[in-house]
Amino acid sequence: MTALIETALSVNGERRILDVEPRTTLLDALRGIGLTGTHAGCEHGACGACTVLLDGETVRSCLVLAGQCGGREVTTIEGLGTPDALHPVMESFRRCHGLQCGFCTPGMVLTAVELLDENPSPTEAEVREALSGNICRCTGYAGIVAAVLDASSSVVSE
Ligand code: FES
Ligand code: FES
Repeated sequence: MTALIETALSVNGERRILDVEPRTTLLDALRGIGLTGTHAGCEHGACGACTVLLDGETVRSCLVLAGQCGGREVTTIEGLGTPDALHPVMESFRRCHGLQCGFCTPGMVLTAVELLDENPSPTEAEVREALSGNICRCTGYAGIVAAVLDASSSVVSE
């Protein structure tokens, strides 16, 4: 049996100590503690479904080892908002029909949050560029792009 290693990190503002195998990805570690909003799609860095924020920057959690995350801050979709208190970007996805099945949505939303943190008033081209690493098999992207542009107005006007 593989020996476990201990990694202490912050997940959605809460300190967590995880015992993981050296090969355990951050994706599997997060899902293993019930944070199943981080979705496992391709599991090799191609689809963006597993995107989370690591110290405020998007990463593909299927490509990060949990054991590398000691002392770092992880934000998953669950840490961004709740059904009763949606984050403004979540609210825009709801308002603009930026999802259908929802599988890509956590990764899309977290990618949009990072974009709007860096660039509160992106152009449509900049939104499409920022989302270009996130695959959606349902929407055709129009509603997603509209949602991010809608959120940019919200962010600017707050
Ligand atoms: S599951 Fe990580 S990029 Fe697809
Ligand atoms: S809403 Fe289904 S994959 Fe994007």
